[in-house]
Amino acid sequence: MLTRRRFLGYGGAGMLAITAGYSPQSLSGLLNQQETASNIPLSLADKAKLAKLKNLLLGYPVNMNTPPEAFFDWRRQLLAAGIGTFAYNNVGNPNKESAIPYNTHDFEREVILRFGKLFAFPAADTWGFISNSGTDSNMHGMYMGRTILKARTGVLPKAYFTKEAHYSIQILRDLLGLETVFVGTLPDGGMDPDDLRQKLADNPSHPALVIATIGTTFKGAIDQVDRIQDALKGYSSYLHLDAALFGGYLPFTSHAGEVLYQSQTNPAAPRYDSIAVSCHKFFGFPSPAGLFITTQNHFDEFNKLFSQIHDPEYIHHVPGTITCSRDAVKPAEFYFFSTPSAMDKLAEDAQSMLQHTVFLMEQMQARFSHLQPTRANDLSNTVFFRKPSDWIVKKYSLATMHLEIDNKKQEYAHVVVMPHANRKVLTEFLTDLGKVSVTSL
Ligand SMILES: Cc1ncc(COP(=O)(O)O)c(C=O)c1O
Repeated sequence: MLTRRRFLGYGGAGMLAITAGYSPQSLSGLLNQQETASNIPLSLADKAKLAKLKNLLLGYPVNMNTPPEAFFDWRRQLLAAGIGTFAYNNVGNPNKESAIPYNTHDFEREVILRFGKLFAFPAADTWGFISNSGTDSNMHGMYMGRTILKARTGVLPKAYFTKEAHYSIQILRDLLGLETVFVGTLPDGGMDPDDLRQKLADNPSHPALVIATIGTTFKGAIDQVDRIQDALKGYSSYLHLDAALFGGYLPFTSHAGEVLYQSQTNPAAPRYDSIAVSCHKFFGFPSPAGLFITTQNHFDEFNKLFSQIHDPEYIHHVPGTITCSRDAVKPAEFYFFSTPSAMDKLAEDAQSMLQHTVFLMEQMQARFSHLQPTRANDLSNTVFFRKPSDWIVKKYSLATMHLEIDNKKQEYAHVVVMPHANRKVLTEFLTDLGKVSVTSL
């Protein structure tokens, strides 16, 4: 039991009380409450029970498979080496010697090189790091684009994206103090390159920070990189790709070149400037993390500017990242997912995931066409449809949204077919859908 004496023995407890505005009396009330409470709402037993149902989660883009035993062996090896047992810290640029030797920059560098290769970044022109999440990687991409464009032109860019982009883009746009230019969409939900062309022409005095989404959150649409680049010709621009989910699996399919390769035949004319991918989505890394990858050239241009606002003296170099302290455990753990055997498994998962998506789509079209099932394109693992009964939404943790389709605003839900959503789970879902009469829609 947590006694008052033991609690106060923990470092920082007194400071917590002061900063939270507690008086000594109210603190002692709080502690006594904790000591005597018999109904503390925390139960590992409940979590273990819930974990048995994890494969039923179909509404959000997270891979609920437990990584193979080899991953946990790797984790134990890291622990044995001290990583994760005391305050390791990846502060700074992983490509620079760190003032703190207790880091895993070596693993971080290698992961970025290996994944950079999958996205066809030229080996000698790759820079990146492991971030906290897809959102964190988007933040770095947008900040880098904003900084570079402002320096090149003397004018703050406007942020161009569609209403199908992830909501975090709007938050980041606010944080960066940028004006938005919403670009219209094609019927599938992807960015309309002709509308982009028009919007660029309407805003000639501002550079364009374009955020394209490779796999929009709700519909799974893909913004077409080459058509966007065509529209951007002649404008001062920076193109960041938010490939939080699709960026994980498309490199393992025959479609990688079409959508995701950063350089095609001409390395001097890269197709985009930076990319964000979440590690906990397709890869199944068991805690939130993200890949952020750009070119060394871009990074160098950014870093020169960054050094003017960030005094590097304290850590001996310009960190290159917005956050100072960074997790050292995640890059070392995520390294496992860049090994050849883990990549083989990712390739298998990518293939079976798309096959399962075809299965779900065909079954829904055949049996539940009244739900108007839609798959934006053949590369998508997302099927959206009219919202079914609430108990189905709850059982499968489905995300729901109001969409305006054919001039009618109605509520929709989607299934994101992640690697754990196998035939058995999808069959159970389809059986449940069959229990619902059309009139209960
Ligand atoms: C397209 C897209 N971008 C960004 C994010 C946010 O990623 P994260 O949850 O890793 O921050 C999501 C999450 O679903 C997403 O779908």
